[in-house]
Amino acid sequence: MEGNRNPGLLAVTAGVGLAVLFALLGVTSALDGRIAFGLAVVSLGVAALVYVFYSRGNAVTKTGYAALIVTIAIGLLLPFLLITQTQSQADAQASLYDLKLQRGAAIFGQYCATCHGYLGQGVNGPKLNGNPDISKMTDQDLTRIISGGIANPNDPTKFLMPAWLDDYGGSLTQDDIGYVVALIRSSDRTYTASKGLSSVNGFTYVYGTLINATQQAEYNAEKKGGSKPPANTFIDKTADKSVVIDAVNSTTNSSGYQWEVLDQTSANVIIKAGTTVEWQNHTQGGIPHDVVSGSGGTPNNKFPTSPIFSPGGSYSYTFATPGEYPYYCGIHPAMVGWITVQ
Ligand code: HEC
Repeated sequence: MEGNRNPGLLAVTAGVGLAVLFALLGVTSALDGRIAFGLAVVSLGVAALVYVFYSRGNAVTKTGYAALIVTIAIGLLLPFLLITQTQSQADAQASLYDLKLQRGAAIFGQYCATCHGYLGQGVNGPKLNGNPDISKMTDQDLTRIISGGIANPNDPTKFLMPAWLDDYGGSLTQDDIGYVVALIRSSDRTYTASKGLSSVNGFTYVYGTLINATQQAEYNAEKKGGSKPPANTFIDKTADKSVVIDAVNSTTNSSGYQWEVLDQTSANVIIKAGTTVEWQNHTQGGIPHDVVSGSGGTPNNKFPTSPIFSPGGSYSYTFATPGEYPYYCGIHPAMVGWITVQ
């Protein structure tokens, strides 16, 4: 050995060098971290064995060690290749699931948001984003309800919610409905955790799918707290042909004024389609108001904005179509109310 380069040492140097190189590639993300780490480990292992190989003189021992080197190198490589493979399958599945949620969000924004709200918060259809009642349903139940719609128990020829599956005259395919079901499920953390799915709530994707400016404005209005007030704040006026809502001075509303049904503290009413609502200005000090359809200070143009009217003045509108009509004063956006038309 004297005078010669020691091939064992050379191998170790090369092996360590390679290991460092792979590790660096891994750290700088030039190479997938797992692959880089695996290759670094294999380089070190092989270098160590090559060193042992050269430090033995006997030819028989050498052959034995050579065989061992190859076996161990493969042995080291195999599990790590398998892990990488399983991991990339899991990655592919995760991105497929994410794509499903995005498709579900796009469908929801176009077909379901008008009744269930852009955030799935519930408007004149029930809340779908994080609804414990829905968590109790199986995926099959949910798919069946969305596919077939919900018939009106008092009149089976009418629907509380229309059927959505194309086979039943709806606008959605079976795949589409699968995406929407995945979207609704994604708001249930217990469900996603039990299935090993990501914890992303797909309803957060809805805004990104809206390309229509009116829908984006509606989304923002609903997000700002445009969700329907609690049921016990609504005054039942379904027996009346006309309803008066007054603008009055207020000590509780931040604007100093509020809407209210005469002598009631609420300006939220339930009326029948065809009922006329008249907003009257009864505030003191010559303060003008107007009535804007929308919420959160953002108009949704579901009914025309009134002219500005001073004390003594009023504005009337007849609600012909069932639906939810939040409203506010364009001059004092903290003056809000809500009309549910049945
Ligand atoms: C025209 C309004 C409207 C639209 C649009 C609409 N729904 Fe509904 N949906 C309703 C109403 C109303 C109910 C509640 C019916 C009842 O009282 O049982 C309902 C109920 C549901 C339920 C059952 C909820 C529960 O707690 O039982 C699901 C799920 C549902 N809708 C999903 C959807 C999906 C998904 C879409 C879009 C593809 C959609 N809905 C579009 C009005 C609508």
